Amino acid sequence: MTHRVALLAGDGVGPEVTAEARKAVDALGLDLEWTELPWGSAYWHEHGRMMPEDALDVVRAHDAILMGAVGDPSIPDHLSLWGLILDLRQRLDLWANLRPARLLDGIPCPLAGRGPADVDMLFVRENTEGEYAGVGGRAHRTLEGEVALEVGVFTRAGVERVLRHAFELAGARRGVVTSATKSNASRFGYVLWDEIAEEIAAEHPRIRYEKVLVDALAARMVRSPESLDVVVASNLFADILTDLAAALQGGMGMAASANLAPGTATPGLFEPVHGSAPDIAGQGIANPAGAVWSASLLLDHLGEGDAAAALLRALEDVCRDGPRTRDVGGSATTREVGDAIAARLR
Ligand code: NAI
Ligand code: MG
Repeated sequence: MTHRVALLAGDGVGPEVTAEARKAVDALGLDLEWTELPWGSAYWHEHGRMMPEDALDVVRAHDAILMGAVGDPSIPDHLSLWGLILDLRQRLDLWANLRPARLLDGIPCPLAGRGPADVDMLFVRENTEGEYAGVGGRAHRTLEGEVALEVGVFTRAGVERVLRHAFELAGARRGVVTSATKSNASRFGYVLWDEIAEEIAAEHPRIRYEKVLVDALAARMVRSPESLDVVVASNLFADILTDLAAALQGGMGMAASANLAPGTATPGLFEPVHGSAPDIAGQGIANPAGAVWSASLLLDHLGEGDAAAALLRALEDVCRDGPRTRDVGGSATTREVGDAIAARLR
């Protein structure tokens, strides 16, 4: 059966890095068809929206989506993000955002004296509710009494499914789940989160569960990253912590992610963690590693486990032997890195 993959290259460096991911996947010679979706900021300027009205149907006609990033200085970020990626995550109910943060051999780590053995975490981010539920409002605009409400939404069903998934994933790793919370200061949502975590921990006696206040957890990621295996966190907390995790694994250009609805036939959406990087867009210097890694996660989702492993191995080989882009200590272009990865797969 032909795999149908939608390519949503997006804005800025999105098209640059996804072109290399596509090249690497094509080098594997799988039975796979790409559909290019020209959505994003250029689409907005032409049509007044980030993606067409039937976008969900279009996406659902595919097995998976590979996305670059969206965001352009000409459009307010909250409109471009909610007009595309946050909307897709919510309406497709892609509730689990998996973000592996592993330092690859050959990639410089900003922590002195640390290497690949010290940085190997898997973040499980709640991806549809919490602080990014999209609930709130503004009133009395421009008046002195102007008010904005941003409401965090934590449902038992939403919290339970993501925590349970984290425990299941930890069973296939080092068996530790660290839950990020802030239940000392926020008395409702994170207290419910902690209660549910306790319940699920009781169902998994072989997994070591710990709850850590998110501020202390940020410090611990720097002080003792080797102590962390699976980290499960709310939408906002994991958003912030995974940029820190990306830095530990060599920078924003290295980090990959999968947006999934486990246990359903919904197509997964795979994207590097970074944004459209307007500061370096168009220069051909963006690191394609996060996009290539995301493509490997995508192949896993399609049931192509061997191809996924081969792609990840090729990425690891190139990180170790070069060429590398300048953000990770090299001087190569995006294309040179992509060509080197693809060459190892032919
Ligand atoms: P960013 O991730 O685009 O850039 C942060 C820093 O990392 C910049 O210095 C950039 O040059 C560097 N960087 C990012 N990707 C890189 C790569 N592949 N290789 C080398 N260096 C890389 O985050 P920023 O600047 O906060 O946001 C830029 C735009 O992207 C905004 O419009 C934002 O809303 C959007 N954004 C979109 C996301 C998405 O589509 N999922 C996620 C995050 C941000
Ligand atoms: Mg982010």
